[in-house]
Amino acid sequence: MPHADSSFVPDTIQTKTEFYDHVLTQLEALLEGERYWVTNLAQTAAILYHSYLGSALYGGDAHGPVVNWCGFYLHPPSHPSSSSSGSGSTHPLLLGPYQGRPACLSILLQPNTKSGNVGVCATSFLSRKTVIVPDVENHPGHIACDGETKSEIVVPLVSSDPDSYSKVVGVLDLDSTVLNTFDEDDQKGLESVVKLIQDACDWS
Ligand code: SME
Repeated sequence: MPHADSSFVPDTIQTKTEFYDHVLTQLEALLEGERYWVTNLAQTAAILYHSYLGSALYGGDAHGPVVNWCGFYLHPPSHPSSSSSGSGSTHPLLLGPYQGRPACLSILLQPNTKSGNVGVCATSFLSRKTVIVPDVENHPGHIACDGETKSEIVVPLVSSDPDSYSKVVGVLDLDSTVLNTFDEDDQKGLESVVKLIQDACDWS
Protein backbone atom coordinates (compact mmCIF):
# COMPACT_ATOMS: atom_id res chain seq x y z
CA MET A 1 0.00 0.00 0.00
CA PRO A 2 1.37 3.47 -0.85
CA HIS A 3 2.19 5.43 2.31
CA ALA A 4 -0.35 8.16 1.50
CA ASP A 5 -3.19 5.64 1.59
CA SER A 6 -2.68 5.19 5.35
CA SER A 7 -4.44 8.53 5.88
CA PHE A 8 -7.61 7.47 4.04
CA VAL A 9 -10.44 6.96 6.54
CA PRO A 10 -12.98 4.25 5.56
CA ASP A 11 -16.65 5.31 5.36
CA THR A 12 -17.51 2.51 7.80
CA ILE A 13 -15.93 4.48 10.67
CA GLN A 14 -18.79 6.02 12.64
CA THR A 15 -17.35 7.07 16.01
CA LYS A 16 -14.32 8.92 17.31
CA THR A 17 -13.22 5.76 19.13
CA GLU A 18 -13.20 3.85 15.82
CA PHE A 19 -11.44 6.79 14.17
CA TYR A 20 -8.57 6.79 16.65
CA ASP A 21 -8.31 2.97 16.65
CA HIS A 22 -7.90 3.18 12.87
CA VAL A 23 -5.33 6.00 13.03
CA LEU A 24 -3.33 4.20 15.73
CA THR A 25 -3.15 1.01 13.65
CA GLN A 26 -1.99 2.94 10.60
CA LEU A 27 0.50 5.04 12.57
CA GLU A 28 2.05 2.02 14.29
CA ALA A 29 2.66 0.41 10.90
CA LEU A 30 4.07 3.66 9.45
CA LEU A 31 6.59 4.13 12.28
CA GLU A 32 7.74 0.50 12.40
CA GLY A 33 11.52 0.18 12.25
CA GLU A 34 12.27 3.89 12.72
CA ARG A 35 13.13 5.59 16.02
CA TYR A 36 14.41 9.01 14.91
CA TRP A 37 12.06 11.46 16.60
CA VAL A 38 12.00 14.11 13.86
CA THR A 39 10.95 11.54 11.28
CA ASN A 40 8.30 10.03 13.52
CA LEU A 41 6.80 13.34 14.64
CA ALA A 42 6.62 14.53 11.02
CA GLN A 43 4.86 11.34 9.97
CA THR A 44 2.45 11.58 12.94
CA ALA A 45 1.47 15.17 12.12
CA ALA A 46 0.83 14.18 8.49
CA ILE A 47 -1.34 11.15 9.16
CA LEU A 48 -3.37 12.93 11.84
CA TYR A 49 -3.99 16.06 9.76
CA HIS A 50 -5.01 14.18 6.63
CA SER A 51 -7.11 11.64 8.52
CA TYR A 52 -9.17 14.45 10.10
CA LEU A 53 -9.44 16.08 6.67
CA GLY A 54 -10.90 12.91 5.14
CA SER A 55 -13.24 11.96 7.98
CA ALA A 56 -16.94 12.83 7.98
CA LEU A 57 -16.70 12.96 11.79
CA TYR A 58 -14.64 16.15 11.51
CA GLY A 59 -16.46 17.83 8.66
CA GLY A 60 -14.85 16.12 5.68
CA ASP A 61 -13.58 17.70 2.50
CA ALA A 62 -16.89 19.37 1.56
CA HIS A 63 -16.66 21.82 4.47
CA GLY A 64 -12.94 22.55 4.23
CA PRO A 65 -10.52 21.61 6.97
CA VAL A 66 -12.10 21.56 10.43
CA VAL A 67 -8.79 20.62 12.01
CA ASN A 68 -6.73 23.45 10.50
CA TRP A 69 -3.46 22.86 12.35
CA CYS A 70 -1.84 19.77 13.82
CA GLY A 71 1.69 19.54 15.12
CA PHE A 72 4.27 19.66 17.85
CA TYR A 73 5.92 22.28 20.03
CA LEU A 74 9.11 20.97 21.60
CA HIS A 75 11.28 21.82 24.57
CA PRO A 76 14.84 20.87 23.61
CA PRO A 77 17.38 20.47 26.43
CA SER A 78 19.03 23.78 25.56
CA HIS A 79 18.28 26.84 23.48
CA PRO A 80 20.62 29.54 22.06
CA SER A 81 18.59 32.28 23.77
CA SER A 82 19.11 30.83 27.23
CA SER A 83 22.07 29.65 29.28
CA SER A 84 19.83 27.49 31.45
CA SER A 85 19.02 23.87 30.77
CA GLY A 86 17.48 20.84 32.46
CA SER A 87 14.36 20.68 34.54
CA GLY A 88 14.53 24.29 35.76
CA SER A 89 14.88 25.72 32.28
CA THR A 90 12.31 28.24 31.13
CA HIS A 91 13.45 28.71 27.54
CA PRO A 92 10.49 28.65 25.15
CA LEU A 93 8.72 25.82 23.42
CA LEU A 94 9.84 25.71 19.79
CA LEU A 95 7.84 24.86 16.69
CA GLY A 96 8.37 21.25 15.58
CA PRO A 97 7.00 19.08 12.76
CA TYR A 98 3.46 20.11 11.79
CA GLN A 99 0.79 20.32 9.09
CA GLY A 100 -1.17 23.51 8.46
CA ARG A 101 -0.47 27.19 7.94
CA PRO A 102 2.70 28.82 9.35
CA ALA A 103 2.51 29.24 13.13
CA CYS A 104 4.32 30.90 16.06
CA LEU A 105 7.99 29.89 16.07
CA SER A 106 8.23 29.87 19.86
CA ILE A 107 5.94 29.95 22.88
CA LEU A 108 7.06 31.40 26.20
CA LEU A 109 6.63 29.34 29.35
CA GLN A 110 6.63 32.44 31.56
CA PRO A 111 3.34 34.29 32.12
CA ASN A 112 2.63 37.28 29.92
CA THR A 113 3.81 40.36 31.81
CA LYS A 114 0.50 42.19 31.28
CA SER A 115 -2.13 39.45 31.63
CA GLY A 116 -0.27 37.05 33.92
CA ASN A 117 -1.39 34.12 31.73
CA VAL A 118 0.46 31.51 29.69
CA GLY A 119 -0.79 30.06 26.39
CA VAL A 120 -2.59 26.74 25.98
CA CYS A 121 0.55 24.84 24.92
CA ALA A 122 2.53 26.21 27.87
CA THR A 123 -0.31 25.32 30.26
CA SER A 124 -0.32 21.72 29.06
CA PHE A 125 3.47 21.49 29.08
CA LEU A 126 3.84 22.91 32.59
CA SER A 127 0.97 20.91 34.11
CA ARG A 128 1.69 17.71 32.15
CA LYS A 129 -2.03 17.48 31.52
CA THR A 130 -4.20 17.56 28.41
CA VAL A 131 -5.99 20.88 27.94
CA ILE A 132 -9.26 21.09 25.95
CA VAL A 133 -10.33 24.58 24.88
CA PRO A 134 -13.95 24.60 23.60
CA ASP A 135 -13.79 28.31 22.68
CA VAL A 136 -10.46 30.07 22.33
CA GLU A 137 -12.10 33.49 22.81
CA ASN A 138 -13.00 32.50 26.36
CA HIS A 139 -9.64 31.02 27.28
CA PRO A 140 -7.31 33.43 29.10
CA GLY A 141 -3.83 33.28 27.64
CA HIS A 142 -4.74 31.62 24.35
CA ILE A 143 -2.17 32.58 21.69
CA ALA A 144 -3.80 33.10 18.28
CA CYS A 145 -1.55 31.84 15.48
CA ASP A 146 -4.51 31.78 13.06
CA GLY A 147 -7.59 34.01 13.35
CA GLU A 148 -9.75 31.18 11.98
CA THR A 149 -9.08 28.93 14.98
CA LYS A 150 -12.08 28.52 17.30
CA SER A 151 -11.19 25.56 19.52
CA GLU A 152 -8.09 23.61 20.48
CA ILE A 153 -6.68 20.58 22.29
CA VAL A 154 -3.12 20.18 23.58
CA VAL A 155 -1.61 16.91 24.88
CA PRO A 156 1.74 16.74 26.72
CA LEU A 157 4.47 14.63 25.16
CA VAL A 158 6.66 12.91 27.74
CA SER A 159 9.86 11.02 27.01
CA SER A 160 9.75 7.44 28.26
CA ASP A 161 13.52 7.13 27.91
CA PRO A 162 15.05 7.49 31.40
CA ASP A 163 18.45 8.34 29.90
CA SER A 164 17.18 11.29 27.89
CA TYR A 165 15.05 14.16 29.21
CA SER A 166 13.01 11.79 31.38
CA LYS A 167 10.32 14.42 31.42
CA VAL A 168 8.06 16.43 29.14
CA VAL A 169 9.71 17.00 25.78
CA GLY A 170 6.90 19.05 24.29
CA VAL A 171 3.24 18.98 23.33
CA LEU A 172 0.95 17.83 20.53
CA ASP A 173 -1.35 20.71 19.52
CA LEU A 174 -4.49 20.60 17.36
CA ASP A 175 -6.59 23.58 16.27
CA SER A 176 -10.09 23.62 14.80
CA THR A 177 -12.15 26.20 12.88
CA VAL A 178 -15.29 25.02 14.74
CA LEU A 179 -16.27 25.60 18.37
CA ASN A 180 -16.32 22.56 20.71
CA THR A 181 -14.58 20.22 18.25
CA PHE A 182 -12.59 18.27 20.81
CA ASP A 183 -14.01 16.20 23.68
CA GLU A 184 -13.00 13.38 26.02
CA ASP A 185 -12.94 10.88 23.11
CA ASP A 186 -10.36 13.04 21.33
CA GLN A 187 -8.40 13.34 24.56
CA LYS A 188 -8.35 9.56 25.02
CA GLY A 189 -7.45 8.95 21.37
CA LEU A 190 -4.73 11.59 21.23
CA GLU A 191 -3.21 10.49 24.54
CA SER A 192 -2.94 7.00 22.99
CA VAL A 193 -1.27 8.52 19.93
CA VAL A 194 1.20 10.35 22.16
CA LYS A 195 1.90 7.17 24.16
CA LEU A 196 2.66 5.35 20.91
CA ILE A 197 5.09 8.10 19.85
CA GLN A 198 6.77 8.22 23.26
CA ASP A 199 7.55 4.51 23.05
CA ALA A 200 8.48 4.63 19.34
CA CYS A 201 11.12 7.38 19.52
CA ASP A 202 14.64 7.91 20.77
CA TRP A 203 14.76 11.49 22.02
CA SER A 204 18.48 12.15 21.87
N1 SME B 1 -2.80 28.43 20.50
C1 SME B 1 -1.51 27.98 20.99
C2 SME B 1 -0.41 28.49 20.13
C3 SME B 1 0.01 27.56 19.04
S1 SME B 1 -0.97 27.62 17.67
O1 SME B 1 -2.31 27.23 18.05
C4 SME B 1 -0.41 26.62 16.47
C5 SME B 1 -1.34 28.43 22.45
O2 SME B 1 -2.15 29.18 22.98
O3 SME B 1 -0.37 28.02 23.08
